Amino acid sequence: MTEAGLLVLDAGTTSTRAMLYTPDGNRIATAQRALSQSFPRPGWVEQDAAEIWALSLACARDMVARAGGADRIAAIGITNQRETVIAWDKRNGRPLAPAIVWQDRRTADQCQALREAGHEEMVQRRTGLVIDPYFSATKMRWLMDHEPAVAQAGDALAFGTVESWLVWNLTGGLHISDASNASRTQLLALDGASWDRELCDLFGVAIAALPAIVDNAGHFGATSLALLGGSIPICGLAGDQQSATIGQGCLSPGQAKATLGTGAFMLTPTGTVPPRSENRLLGTILCQLGGQRRYALEGSIFVAGSLIKWLRDELGLIRTAEETDALARSVPDNGGVSMLPALSGLGAPHWRPDARGVIAGLTQGTTRAHIVRAALESLAHQLHDLATAFAADDAPWTDLRIDGGMSANDWIAQDLADMLNLPVERPADVETTARGAAMLAAVGAGLHVTLEDAAAIMPDRRLFQPGMDAQLRAGRLATWGALLQAAKTAS
Ligand code: G3P
Repeated sequence: MTEAGLLVLDAGTTSTRAMLYTPDGNRIATAQRALSQSFPRPGWVEQDAAEIWALSLACARDMVARAGGADRIAAIGITNQRETVIAWDKRNGRPLAPAIVWQDRRTADQCQALREAGHEEMVQRRTGLVIDPYFSATKMRWLMDHEPAVAQAGDALAFGTVESWLVWNLTGGLHISDASNASRTQLLALDGASWDRELCDLFGVAIAALPAIVDNAGHFGATSLALLGGSIPICGLAGDQQSATIGQGCLSPGQAKATLGTGAFMLTPTGTVPPRSENRLLGTILCQLGGQRRYALEGSIFVAGSLIKWLRDELGLIRTAEETDALARSVPDNGGVSMLPALSGLGAPHWRPDARGVIAGLTQGTTRAHIVRAALESLAHQLHDLATAFAADDAPWTDLRIDGGMSANDWIAQDLADMLNLPVERPADVETTARGAAMLAAVGAGLHVTLEDAAAIMPDRRLFQPGMDAQLRAGRLATWGALLQAAKTAS
């Protein structure tokens, strides 16, 4: 690398990574460490904030060494799993409790009570978000109510999502969050400049514990000298799904991206006016640059790659995620097996936190290939529900760009094209989440003026064209609809 490069930290749900980019957006090296998760009770998902920081730092150090030292890095961009809440002590930077992960459903009752008390319409109008345990606000309240160290921290209490936690540690005490992450807490109005006092009161969260909200690109602070061997400016911050949207070059309405990671997240930009969904989709901040916001409509599916991990780690049906492609092809169809992958309840557009997963249609003739195929098919079924909701909200997808680990599976890419009846594009480098953070860091560091400039050079793409018989598609959707209805009735 002749010119100084860009360092991206991508702290996801199951792994944290650091990646080195050239200033024009080519990824040249990656370091990755797996993150542990614990499931102390049904529906609970926790992580160790100290581990997230330690392993993210270890990855960053690998990349700084690879670049040839801190002075070879022009800027850092950070992107992260969103909504996950960390509480720490401002006096010593120590976590006060386990991090509550976005997938965690423990506040379902609290959400139900808020809905029954009639708050959902106001909350949704203001924040773009439905009331669901997914978002940070009820998780923060839960920590204040149930974790003695959090309850007793008083003025020393700091709350943050994962980017906020990493910036605090990298800089030695800067407490900020970017607008895209802040818009997922349910404590920021889509058009509000800062935390919304009425929402903070409703959810019972102290504003003093929250970070300052900043743009997605700019000069936010610099790394403490001792950490990475130099003071590197932090110039880009974004929630991973907004970052992937930017990294896919989806900057105009109609351009849609689906990131197939732990969950699957569909976003399409909607412009500069806050979106209002009538179909249980989410309005969210795509990014804020120079104080100007761009918005997006989002459909969040909670279980995608985590279903494959579950088939591998809990059921032992597969040894590797990669073998699902060949297994799905090894049978002519699903053999009558269908799956509702509600392992963390159901997200958009259904929002049923208590729904449980179902595998239906088993016979003596069912093989593991049928079950794996039904699992893969469930992704396209869920995305089809979202496509219908986006179209009903006047935001139809004109094409679909996929990325994330699971998008490398050709069978899935083709099934999505077939079931959505849309061309599906996949970039040669599917790490678009990190690419978006590199683009934001480049803009923040002044290497590019606008995101459109930063998006000018895009990687090559492979196109998957739809080719499924309409009757076959309708049959699969009818079975899916029945499964969904049964699960909704049961929960
Ligand atoms: O909203 C949750 C999302 O940000 C998690 O992303 O990549 O860890 O599935 P991922």
